[in-house]
This record gives sequence, C-alpha cells and structure tokens, in this order.
Amino acid sequence: MTADVHAALDEKSLATIFTGARTHYSWRSREIPQAKLLELYDVAKLGPTSANCSPLRVAFVCSRQAKERLLPALSRGNVAKASSAPVIAIVAQDRNYLDLVPTLFPVGYDARSWFTASPGSAAEHGLRNAMLQTAYLIIAARALGLDCGPMSGFNASIVDDEFLSGLEWNSLLLINLGYGADVPAPPRRPRLSAVDACRFF
Ligand SMILES: Cc1cc2nc3c(=O)[nH]c(=O)nc-3n(C[C@H](O)[C@H](O)[C@H](O)COP(=O)(O)O)c2cc1C
Repeated sequence: MTADVHAALDEKSLATIFTGARTHYSWRSREIPQAKLLELYDVAKLGPTSANCSPLRVAFVCSRQAKERLLPALSRGNVAKASSAPVIAIVAQDRNYLDLVPTLFPVGYDARSWFTASPGSAAEHGLRNAMLQTAYLIIAARALGLDCGPMSGFNASIVDDEFLSGLEWNSLLLINLGYGADVPAPPRRPRLSAVDACRFF
C-alpha cells in the first residue's frame, strides 16, 4: 500500500518535532549508537537544497577523549551542557561544495554557474543551504526520538583546527544530541505572532 504522502502529521507527531519539543541542556546517560547517527544523517540529507548542492558536513564527537578536545572551544556557559551530552555534532559547511554539483545535479549542463553569478555568491549559497540542512538535522533528530541542544557559543577556529584540519570544512554550529534528562523545562519563551512576523500580499 502506498502511504498518503500528503497526510498531515497527527498531533502527537507534531508535538515530537515542534509543539512539544524543547531545547535540551541536560542529558540522560543513555548512549546513541552509531547506527542511529547514520540514520539521522540519512533522513536529514533528504531535505531540499539549491540544485541539490548539499553543502552540509557533520563530525560527530562521541568518545570521552574527543569531547575533552572539544570542551576548550566552548563558551563557559556551554561547557556543562556539552560535557554531559552523549554526542556533540559539529555542523560544518564544505567550502568546496560546488565541486560535487555536477554529480549531485546531473542535468546535462554544468549548474555550478548558477552559484557563481557574482563575487561572494558561492559563499552565500553555501551558507544558506548548509544552515537549511542544519535545521533539517534538528527536526530529523527530534523525529527519530533524539533531543537537541544547539550551541553557537563556541570558538570556530579552535574547533576547525582541532577536528576539521585537512578537510575543506568550516564549523557553523554545535548540536548536543542525546536523550534529555527528566527535568522540568522552564516555560517556553515567547515567539512572535503571525501578526508581527507575517505579511500577506
Ligand atoms: C543557532 C542556535 C544557537 C544557539 N546557541 C546556544 C548557546 O550557545 N547556548 C545555549 O545555551 N543555547 C543556545 N541555543 C538555544 C536557544 O536559546 C533555544 O533553542 C531557544 O531559546 C528556544 O528554546 P526552546 O526550544 O526550548 O523553545 C541556540 C539555539 C540555536 C537554534
């Protein structure tokens, strides 16, 4: 039987990824098997990017030794949150992502020219699409039963030197991944209403 791909999610599923999902800062000791991290990437990679350019790269920091190397890069307020997380994902962008466009978007001509129309446009496209894929990664993690704690409070040069040297990748965000500890979450902070954030034309 073919699934109805246009069916809306039920309330429980929507709660898992949006309405009931919260950012997590403390973690149960339960580990995440590598197979789950591979599944996470395999789901997130299906989100759309411009001409399928797929600039996101992810380095999963799993071992105690690797976490010790990461902690000095974190802002002080993020150290405890990360050190107790089972896995910290270093979300990065491949600076050479355009090299793969002919492979990822095989349409009979070279679509790389779409990304290089003006100076800086390749970098702009790369960042836009990598950040989109980062959001897909967060939503995919929640959909697969994982909790997330994104962190931009870190020194990217330290992370890049320590983990990404030899790769043409630069880090954009860290995401703590795991199963959130059973502690009461503070009230959700306000979000902008549609009146403030949307316009209809
Ligand atoms: C890009 C990004 C960067 C963030 N950086 C940090 C951070 O460095 N430290 C931190 O404690 N929380 C950080 N957060 C967590 C946000 O403050 C949190 O997701 C937001 O307030 C929404 O919380 P909620 O999901 O519980 O509603 C970050 C979140 C995002 C999406």
